[in-house]
Amino acid sequence: YDTKVAPSSTADKNSFAFISARDRWPIILTSAIDDVHRAVSKETDAEKQEEGKSITQGLAKLKYELQHDRHPLLDDGQPDIASYNAELEARGNPKWFDVAWLYAECYLYRRMATLFSTSTHWKRYDVFSKQKMSTFRSSRPAVLELAARYNDMTRQLESGHSVLDNASEEEREKAEQTLFTEMCEICLWGNATDLSLLTNLSYEDIQKLQGSESRKANEEKILVNDFAAAFACLKTAQKPGTKERRVDIVLDNAGFELFVDLVLAGYLLESGLATQIVLHPKNIPWFVSDVVPKDFSDLLTVLVNAKHFYETPSEDEKADGVSPETLSEADAANMKTLFESWSALYAEGKMLLRPNGFWTEGGSYWRMPKTASSLFDDLKESELVIFKGDLNYRKLTGDALWDPATPFTEAIGPLGPASGIRVLTLRTCKADVVVGLPKGKDEELRAMEGGRGDSGARKWAWSGKWAVVSFCDGKA
Ligand code: F6P
Ligand code: MG
Repeated sequence: YDTKVAPSSTADKNSFAFISARDRWPIILTSAIDDVHRAVSKETDAEKQEEGKSITQGLAKLKYELQHDRHPLLDDGQPDIASYNAELEARGNPKWFDVAWLYAECYLYRRMATLFSTSTHWKRYDVFSKQKMSTFRSSRPAVLELAARYNDMTRQLESGHSVLDNASEEEREKAEQTLFTEMCEICLWGNATDLSLLTNLSYEDIQKLQGSESRKANEEKILVNDFAAAFACLKTAQKPGTKERRVDIVLDNAGFELFVDLVLAGYLLESGLATQIVLHPKNIPWFVSDVVPKDFSDLLTVLVNAKHFYETPSEDEKADGVSPETLSEADAANMKTLFESWSALYAEGKMLLRPNGFWTEGGSYWRMPKTASSLFDDLKESELVIFKGDLNYRKLTGDALWDPATPFTEAIGPLGPASGIRVLTLRTCKADVVVGLPKGKDEELRAMEGGRGDSGARKWAWSGKWAVVSFCDGKA
């Protein structure tokens, strides 16, 4: 069911696929080895310690294997293993450096997961959890700024009064669209900070990307901007007569990005643009920083006791003898209010988590109607399905080498027109694939400083500094 356009391949030395396989994957595996090693050294149960050691060896073996053939996945009782292995065979047991990037990268994370899922004591261990939390902690300024903004906004929405009290219907709708766009932009740029890219972004870079000033400055970096169309469809759905209006968010990363996704979710509910938000996390640790259900509860725990979270020194701070800055009473109270507001929405069933094994399979979303038909049908019930981040975009477009001027509606194949699903992507570009650009735009970007390698690679699209917000109305 895949697209016939050739996929991005690790064999292409000019691609980010190649750089990922050569540079990023070994770093990601090394940090996973470090993490388990540390956890083992703190462990007192001898049996668990032994098992942890053998997991580290498994990870080290996988790292070594990056240069060699790959093995079938061990059966951990989950239904996706058979199709991973069948695909591995159908691809002729490829080498790491000559394989479709998308499949290979999914295989890598699935393979890591089997090391834990087939153990006795480490089944639910998330090897990326500490990293996710510590990066979230370093997003403190942006988190506090947004918490205050969110609470102000909900107070205004709840009171039913605002500076627009005497405005015309048209002015009001305009203002509403501006707020919607801003919320979506916050959510979009929150994606610039995923951890699998931390191998080349510094914490300062991240903090710069997160503040409100940088958002304004970044508007011109949104190469395709379909926010207006997405807003129009939610507005239409809001017309009298429609009671349930669901919006889905296919989540990407935990930490700051999950925080801003919840800001958007809460805003959509409080403003009445939606009556229910369905969040789709992953079932297993995925692409370093992706959300698993526990990240959601961990985030709520942070909010409820933010002082403890921010004022307890991290391992590094302890080692450097640094004590973290205290959190003001006002900031702590804002975080608590946010906790109360989000947990109420969750308790009322207005915001819910719906995991599905399809999201961590090795193929693209072109396969969804055939291989995950109940998920496909479920998404048709939604007014709008928001796909967050780079990997979701790669999966929507089959991670194929499309001409960048190909219409988005064509590149998403079976999820395109007449699918019954409305798709919106909020993606900062971190891979080679990109579609929906005006003719000549890719060439223009490649011509900019740093936009291409000497070889003509599409380097501008690797750094998360440019974005595409593409919409397709599959219900039209
Ligand atoms: O481009 C680097 C990369 O790790 C890709 O492998 C992957 O598509 C992406 O980043 C993950 O980013 P995101 O969290 O936005 O999906
Ligand atoms: Mg991710």
